[in-house]
Amino acid sequence: MLKDTFGRTHDYLRISLTEKCSMRCFYCMPAEGIPLGDASKIMKKDEVIAIAQTFVDLGVKKIRLTGGEPLVCKHAGEIIEALGQMPIELAITTNAAHIDKFMPSFKKAGLTNINVSMDSLSEEKFNQITRRKLFETVQNNIKMLMDDGYTIKINVVVMRGVNDEEIVDFVNWTKDTPIHVRFIEFMPFDGNNWNWGKVFGYKEIIEKVSNVHTIEKLTDGPNSTSKAYRVPGFAGTFAVISSVTNPFCGTCNRMRLTADGKIKNCLFGQEELDLLTAHRNSESIEHIIRQSVTNKEKRCGGLPEFENEEEIKKKMSKRSMIRIGG
Ligand code: 5AD
Ligand code: SF4
Repeated sequence: MLKDTFGRTHDYLRISLTEKCSMRCFYCMPAEGIPLGDASKIMKKDEVIAIAQTFVDLGVKKIRLTGGEPLVCKHAGEIIEALGQMPIELAITTNAAHIDKFMPSFKKAGLTNINVSMDSLSEEKFNQITRRKLFETVQNNIKMLMDDGYTIKINVVVMRGVNDEEIVDFVNWTKDTPIHVRFIEFMPFDGNNWNWGKVFGYKEIIEKVSNVHTIEKLTDGPNSTSKAYRVPGFAGTFAVISSVTNPFCGTCNRMRLTADGKIKNCLFGQEELDLLTAHRNSESIEHIIRQSVTNKEKRCGGLPEFENEEEIKKKMSKRSMIRIGG
């Protein structure tokens, strides 16, 4: 078991398969893109599987694939099928632009936990946010998943002045459609021009919905990062991930593996320990994983309070979100 110094058990691993993406969401990566590193530094299929197996041996029970966009990784299908054989819950966070090509792999692997990132219901705004024109493809793929019986979560990063006016529209979408919308507070990462003023917080989100609907609080899971609600009678639910105004570090069970094989013990942490180089040198990586978990800070990777904008900007991780993997 992987326990940190605050008694938190770490049994959930998020693996970024690639730093590439078919979209260019402005809150995730800088306008100029990111310099793509040397491909030889990115984990290969067998390396992902072997490193994941070590985590599973150490007690990991859930693995989520992220990116960049995980499904632009050439070997995503084979990796999904191999991880599907492990005694874990397998999940994926995707922009949904390529899902149609991976349905056979999802089925073989028994992958049913799918989070789709989609920040606007308006085609024009969606294309503005993503700097691409994939709205229809994404809509069709979401529909295909739902017709196939998948229950999906929709991740909406809420940014003041960008899409906060769509909060109620998203909730209305859950009226007849059994989907779970999750509003995520806008978080600071390298190159995303974050400031406190752009954060549209938990309280405000709930206020906005309450102005229109009666809402009911639902019970949240033990390690849940979101606070779930429902409009009574609606088929779906909605939730808020309040990473900024109300971080949920107390019950954190997550570790991250970047596409270049570094373990990060926190989304906001600066420390990265290199598992891939050790693995390539045929060294054991177990002690490095344990070291990373031991080094984990109590809250938000040791960042100052988010209200303290200038300090946050100084101490922020030097990776953009696309290179961390969400
Ligand atoms: N703030 C909040 N959420 C973000 N995501 C990406 N960048 C940010 C940010 N700056 C979301 C993506 C995806 C999830 C993994 O993280 O939309 O759904
Ligand atoms: Fe790609 Fe997701 Fe980042 Fe958008 S948020 S650029 S879809 S990885």
